[in-house]
Amino acid sequence: MNDFTYQNPTRIHFGKTALSHLPSELARFGGQVVLVYGTGSVKRSGLYDRVVRELETAGKEVTEVAGVPSNPTYAKVLEGCEAVRRAKADLILAVGGGSVVDCSKMISASAYLEDDPWEHYIEKGLPLCEKTVPIGVILTMAGTGSEMNAGGVITNEEKHLKLGCNFLHPTFSLLDPTLTLTVPRGQMLSGAFDVICHLHEQYFSDEGDQITDDLIEGLLRGMIRETRKAALDPTDYDTRANLMWGATMGLNESLGLGKTQDWAVHTIEHQVGAYTHCPHGQGLAAISPAYYRFLLPWAQKKLARWAQNVWQIDPAGRDEETMARLGIDALESFLHEVGLPTTLRELGATEEMLPRIAESTLLRGGYHLLTADEVLEILKNCY
Ligand code: NZQ
Ligand code: ZN
Repeated sequence: MNDFTYQNPTRIHFGKTALSHLPSELARFGGQVVLVYGTGSVKRSGLYDRVVRELETAGKEVTEVAGVPSNPTYAKVLEGCEAVRRAKADLILAVGGGSVVDCSKMISASAYLEDDPWEHYIEKGLPLCEKTVPIGVILTMAGTGSEMNAGGVITNEEKHLKLGCNFLHPTFSLLDPTLTLTVPRGQMLSGAFDVICHLHEQYFSDEGDQITDDLIEGLLRGMIRETRKAALDPTDYDTRANLMWGATMGLNESLGLGKTQDWAVHTIEHQVGAYTHCPHGQGLAAISPAYYRFLLPWAQKKLARWAQNVWQIDPAGRDEETMARLGIDALESFLHEVGLPTTLRELGATEEMLPRIAESTLLRGGYHLLTADEVLEILKNCY
């Protein structure tokens, strides 16, 4: 097990009463609030009106950064930085899904940075600016775990790159599962598979026994069960509550502790997203079976363990390779069963895009350090 230091400072309020904690949270900050939200869902659901009322009651002056797109853009980050500086913001309140939260994190980290933020954080990986603005989150979609981690993923449209970085944790996050009931079915499933993929990325590394792997296996079984339930009945509160808490637990950094981790499906998907703007979790679903089949020579032992402990495949009379292959088949059947895409074509990718996606994918470690040619082979196998 690798050494680690762990501290997660985000305060979570979870459940149907989560928003009742907004006034006491707001009271901890000064009077200037920058309210960040997406492209319309919060207005349609009535949440925007409710939050603005709470802000007015708390005596806050509000500046808005509206229209954060799914797969948030660097241009939107720069617009947000300007708003934060102008307002001398005491708090950034992010109301939306992972895209709104991620965008808010980079705004917070960049508003008072003297360098070019893209170059500073994403290209050079330099430390966090000394002056940041605290972030509060009201989450409306379950999936990314951004509500309790430091990560943010931003698309630079000029450079055709979608890349992530660790910025800062939200100070507080309000998680009310009822707010997720209006998420369209395809997005709900996308978020659920994002969680499953986060668990896979943290699980598929290292061969020895690790407590963290036992935790991940349990959470994977739960997420698979709850995703199946949500696909059949998206209106059930407890199912949506389980998906929401599973998402937070899936990437609040605790399940990667001590482990090497993989993240290849994510790095490939981010570039698929940079070209197609597809929903993140749907891209992950299309890539995953092809990636794990490619990984068989290196990860067979772990894949066989996963097949037994997560997909509950009986190992009696089966060798390691058969178990590993059956596990990947089970994953693929699950994607078909719940209605997630299993090809890039379904997500708007074209054959001409594939080499460009492969060449621009950021290649990191994991079980096997992929070459651009190998990424292309995987992309062709799921095209
Ligand atoms: O823009 P609005 O109108 O808000 O609509 C959104 C968007 O169209 C809609 N939506 C959200 N909540 C809703 C709702 N519609 C109806 N009712 C609601 N309650 O859903 C669409 C998707 O929202 P988005 O925030 O884009 O989805 P998600 O939460 O999946 O975030 C995706 C982004 O997060 C990044 C992804 O790469 C992608 O850019 N990730 C962030 C991570 C992190 N910070 O740790 C890790 C992840 O692996 C991921 O890479
Ligand atoms: Zn993800």
